[in-house]
Amino acid sequence: MRTAGPSGPVTWPAEAIWEAVAPALPGFTVEILPEVDSSNSELMRRARAGRDEPVLLVAERQTAGRGRLGRGWDSAAGASLTFSLGLPLAPADWSGLSLAVGVSVAESLHPAIGLKWPNDLWVRDHKLAGILIETASFGAGARYAVIGIGINIAVRPASGLSTPPAALAGLLPGIEAPAALLRIAPALVRDVQVFEQAGFAAFRLRFEARDVLRDRAVTLSDGRSGTAHGVGEDGSLLVHTAAGLQAISSSEVSVRPAAS
Ligand code: BTN
Repeated sequence: MRTAGPSGPVTWPAEAIWEAVAPALPGFTVEILPEVDSSNSELMRRARAGRDEPVLLVAERQTAGRGRLGRGWDSAAGASLTFSLGLPLAPADWSGLSLAVGVSVAESLHPAIGLKWPNDLWVRDHKLAGILIETASFGAGARYAVIGIGINIAVRPASGLSTPPAALAGLLPGIEAPAALLRIAPALVRDVQVFEQAGFAAFRLRFEARDVLRDRAVTLSDGRSGTAHGVGEDGSLLVHTAAGLQAISSSEVSVRPAAS
C-alpha cells in the first residue's frame, strides 16, 4: 500500500502483513492513516462504538500521541513508527501483557535491544520505544485490547528531553518504518495469541534475558528505592528494598536506574 506520507511517498507492506496474520486471526485488516490524533485513541473510540474487529492501525502522523502515566508521545512523521494493534482478547490473567509485547517487539528487531520494566525498549540506557496498552469492555466479560507501540526509527535531536532517545537505525542502518513494521507485526499477533493461551509464563525467561534493570539500583516514583531482582510469575518487578523484597505491580509506578 502506497501513501503520500507527510515526508514523501511511503510504501507500507500491508498485504504481506495481512497474508501472514489473517489465517490465524479471521477478520484481520491493516489500515494506514496519514494522520490521526492517536492510533490508540482511534481504536478505543471504535471499540466503545461497538467495533471489535481485529485491526492493525498505522498512523503516519499523530497529532496527540499518548504515552503512559498521562504523558504525551512525541513522534516525528517519517522518523518514527507509530501503530496500534486492536483485537478481542480473553486471557485468564492479563498481568504481564505489556512485558510480553515488549519481548515480542525486541526479539523481532535486534538482540541488542533491552527491556526496561514494565514496557520500554532500551538501547544502552536510551529509550528506543514505548508501549501503551488499553482495553475496552464489550459484551459479557469480553474485552478489546488496544496495544499501541511507538518506535524511534531515525536519529533525532533530543530537544527538551533529559536523555536523547535511541533510534532503530542506529542498530539497523537504513531501516525505515515499513520494514520495521513487517518484522514486528506478524510475530506480535502470534505472541499475543500465545499470551492469551499461556499467559506471562511463556515470556518470563525471554523477558529476563533482556531485563536492563536486573541487579541494578533503582528508584521508584513513589519514593522507594532498592535493587531490582528480575520479575515475578505475574510480571511484577521484584525490588529488594530496605523493607525487604517487594513486588511492584502497579502500572502507575515508574522506575528508573538510580544515578550512579
Ligand atoms: C510510553 O512509553 O509512555 C508509551 C508510548 C506509546 C506510544 C504509542 S505510539 C502509537 C500508540 N498511539 C498512541 O497515542 N500511543 C501509542
